[in-house]
Amino acid sequence: MTNLSNTDPDIADRSDGDVWWRQAAVYQIYPRSFADSNGDGIGDLAGVTTKVPYLHDLGVDAVWISPFYPSALVDGGYDVDDHRNVDAKLGTLSDFDEMVAALHAAGIRLIVDIVPNHTSNRHEWFREAIVSPKGSAARGRYIFLDGLGENGQLPPADWTSVFGGPAWAAVGDGQWYLHYFATEQPDLNWKNREVRNDFLRTLRFWADRGVDGFRIDVAHGLAKELPSELPSQVELDAMPRDGLHPLWDRDDVHAIYAEWREVFNAYDPPRTAVAEAWVESSRRARYASAKGLGQAFNFDLLEADFEAEAFRRIVTFNLELAAESGSSTTWVLSNHDVVRHATRYGLPPLEGRPVKQGREWLLAGGEEPILDSELGLRRARAATLFELALPGSSYLYQGEELGLNEVARIPASRRQDPAFHRNPGADMGRDGCRVPLPWTETGPSFGFSSGAAHLPQPTWFSQLSVEAQDVDAESTLSLYRRALALRHELQSEESLEWLQGSASGFADTVLAFRRPNGWVSITNFGVSPVILPEGDLLLSSAPLDDGLLPGSTTAWLSTST
Ligand code: GLC
Ligand code: CA
Repeated sequence: MTNLSNTDPDIADRSDGDVWWRQAAVYQIYPRSFADSNGDGIGDLAGVTTKVPYLHDLGVDAVWISPFYPSALVDGGYDVDDHRNVDAKLGTLSDFDEMVAALHAAGIRLIVDIVPNHTSNRHEWFREAIVSPKGSAARGRYIFLDGLGENGQLPPADWTSVFGGPAWAAVGDGQWYLHYFATEQPDLNWKNREVRNDFLRTLRFWADRGVDGFRIDVAHGLAKELPSELPSQVELDAMPRDGLHPLWDRDDVHAIYAEWREVFNAYDPPRTAVAEAWVESSRRARYASAKGLGQAFNFDLLEADFEAEAFRRIVTFNLELAAESGSSTTWVLSNHDVVRHATRYGLPPLEGRPVKQGREWLLAGGEEPILDSELGLRRARAATLFELALPGSSYLYQGEELGLNEVARIPASRRQDPAFHRNPGADMGRDGCRVPLPWTETGPSFGFSSGAAHLPQPTWFSQLSVEAQDVDAESTLSLYRRALALRHELQSEESLEWLQGSASGFADTVLAFRRPNGWVSITNFGVSPVILPEGDLLLSSAPLDDGLLPGSTTAWLSTST
């Protein structure tokens, strides 16, 4: 059992050394869009360092930074040229060391992103592979196959990439390579010992530089077993994902993470890791096992509507899963891949999952009348307090503490995401949640940079800027600060008790739970105000209405145990 409570907020080390991650509040930085220190319009590592006081005041336990490695930025840095260096556009290794030192001095841990499924096409291995002959060791690090047709002029299969378009690309000599994502992201062959060893080296490289943990990109995709007769895309889609699927969530992927775990455990404290594994919920536990990565993202809340019954089911189920894996559970409402939750919650319910719904709304033009941004923000604030009161760790995405909406209107010529460019007219991509943060009310790029930002910012960013919210006690930023500070004091054993049932008198549109130390969180998902349970009010996501909890609002109370 871990107790992260701490009476002195200024103590740098806020949690039990080895298990700090179990109930951490982790803030995701998308570095190109966080803060630019040199005016070139691209956020950088020195920019992060200048904002460490901001992160400290916000009260997060750790930062997860998305890729900052050398990259052509075809996929926002997830196309990595060299896994053990810093992109010159974002700084140097010594900027990295300074950033780590500043974060650690402020008591904030650092998680870096590891992208093991693919390299970029500019990686030295891939450059060697394309000039090497068929069957060479250099090609053996990737997944090359002969094309079909007389001269191999047809792809080995009709597979489609996750970003749309074909998943096989020709290299001109009759061979083709596999890329789940963009053409510039060739998939590695994880049966290759050299590939495996190189990533062990990468993990040590960053752990030696003081990194506390790793976020593993596409963790469920590394192990692949291609049958000699390749199935079609339709056949692939129809195959169960039961551990034996040729491409996704194979059981043998866990042998890779068992090796990584040995590396992590050779450090004191052991390094932590969290899997980005879009797998069926019940299959998450193996990624989260202490013999593997140790933790796995749970995207269930992110895929749910703002709805009491759905939230309750998800929480109960994931706490059970966590007990099964021995890990703590994770909560995510937003990240750099999905429509921001303040926007998702402001859209009328449609058939289909909210993430998809958000993307459809973007595609339809992102019109205001359809989006109720006031309701969206109100619900987002309520959902955030709900999330932060739960046992386990919460992953927050930069800008959600400002209540940012998705930026819907970005001219096609300025869009960067390959998911947009590979799906003309069918997907607007993810740029709308990656627009550089507004730090000030005025000025070029609202204080993000001394020049223009790499993605255009809307005028409404002014009133949501850090400067505008800093002084406003009712702002979303102030709410996050108060919530994170209280969470430090209150976070306790990883369990909760629902205060539901007929005796409680709560309608089924209300969710209330109590942590073992008497910390109560109550959310009104409905419209009519409801009576609060007995206790001292600590915080609420919106003002009370005559002592009652209004709709789309969460309150925290302290009650006697
Ligand atoms: C993960 C990342 C996403 C990236 C993809 C390919 O899903 O979160 O941003 O595009 O992997 O690396
Ligand atoms: Ca810069």
